[in-house]
Formats: sequence, C-alpha cells, structure tokens
Amino acid sequence: MTRVVYYTASTLDGFLADPDDSLDWLMRQDLDEHGPQNYGEFIATIGALVMGSTTYEWVLANIKRNGEPWYYPQPTWVMTSRTLGTPEGADVRFAQGEITTVLDELRAAADGKDVWVVGGGDLAGQVADAGQLDEVIVSVAPVVLGAGRPLLPRRMDLRLVETAPNGAFVTARYEVLGALKEDRPNLDG
Ligand SMILES: NC(=O)c1ccc[n+]([C@@H]2O[C@H](COP(=O)([O-])OP(=O)(O)OC[C@H]3O[C@@H](n4cnc5c(N)ncnc54)[C@H](OP(=O)(O)O)[C@@H]3O)[C@@H](O)[C@H]2O)c1
Repeated sequence: MTRVVYYTASTLDGFLADPDDSLDWLMRQDLDEHGPQNYGEFIATIGALVMGSTTYEWVLANIKRNGEPWYYPQPTWVMTSRTLGTPEGADVRFAQGEITTVLDELRAAADGKDVWVVGGGDLAGQVADAGQLDEVIVSVAPVVLGAGRPLLPRRMDLRLVETAPNGAFVTARYEVLGALKEDRPNLDG
C-alpha cells in the first residue's frame, strides 16, 4: 500500500534551510551513502514526488550550478501559484490549491510505491492537515541555526519507529499519529 513519507534533513533546532534558503551547512556534513536511512534505498521505494516551489527553485539552481541532469525519474509535482520552467527531460507537473486533489494524483502515479513529500515544512503540514502524512524520516545534522525554514510547523504527535547514527547525523523514522493529544477534543469530559 502506498505510504506518504516526508524524508528530509534538519538542523538540531528544526530548520530545513537557513533564512536565505542556503543548505551549505547540510552539504558539508559527513554521511555514509550506504548507511541507515540512505537516499539510494529510500528513492528506490518512491513512485512519485511533491515539493513546494522554493525547494524546486533550489533544485533547479543546484543542477545548473553543478551542470547536472534533473535528479528524479519519477513524476514530480511542484506546488506553486506561479508559472515556472521545466528542465529538459524532467517529468514535472505544476499544481496549486488543495493538496488532497494532488495527493490523489500522486497516489495514482506512484502505482503501489510510496509518495515522497520533499518539502518544505508547510507543504508537509498541508499533507498532515489532510490526514494523509504517514511517516516522517529525518536526518538531524549537528548544527543549530537559530532561524530558518521550519521542519514541520504544526502541532502533532508522532511515534518513534527507529533511530540510528549515520556519519554526522542522527537518523530517525516516525509514524505520524495525528493532532497533538492536548489539542484533541476530550470526549470523556
Ligand atoms: N534540508 C533538506 O533536506 C531540505 C528538504 C527540502 C527543502 N529544503 C529547503 O527548505 C526550504 C523550504 O522552503 P519553504 O519553506 O519556502 O517551502 P517550499 O514548500 O519549498 O515552498 C513554499 C512555496 O511553495 C508554494 N506552495 C506551497 N503550497 C502551495 C499550494 N498548496 N498551492 C500553491 N502554491 C503552493 C508557494 O509559493 P508560490 O505560490 O509563490 O510559488 C510557497 O511559498 C528551501 O530552501 C528548500 O531548498 C531543504
């Protein structure tokens, strides 16, 4: 069955990127490409991706800077209210508004594999708000930034499924339980 998974890296204080959308603090970290929660094993489970436009524009800038081809063979949805370009050879589809419609399309495209919510944090939050975020897999870098783009700006409970060190990172996989217990209606009272 298709699972919807938010797989990402974060600082110890819960930021995906610094306030200028730089990931330089992340790219210089020591990582075992064959270690726990590695990207190669993860991406093999993925049938479709969704990302916000800031993340998309970071990917576009990065492949241009490094002279690389588009990273993802899977169909990729980009959430945006703007008109953005598509790199050569990329299967990119643009969408806006309610995430539930897009999730239906993502699940169909994934064809039994999982859906990757690439980020950012609010997009993962939109998926969680729709009750459709199954897992959060995060690699925590030994960095604090004090400010930046938040990992998951919502109030939620999760259950720790597994954790392991990988190079400089602590990796952790969580099952999403839903709204924070303290925010749920007290049906006994
Ligand atoms: N650490 C990591 O591994 C990691 C992973 C992912 C991302 N990142 C970085 O983290 C940062 C995330 O940036 P961000 O928090 O700004 O998030 P983002 O999700 O990448 O982009 C947010 C933008 O996406 C568009 N959008 C989102 N939901 C939409 C919807 N339902 N309908 C229409 N448009 C929608 C809006 O822009 P417009 O409508 O104006 O286009 C919104 O401002 C980026 O710098 C990214 O590179 C890091």
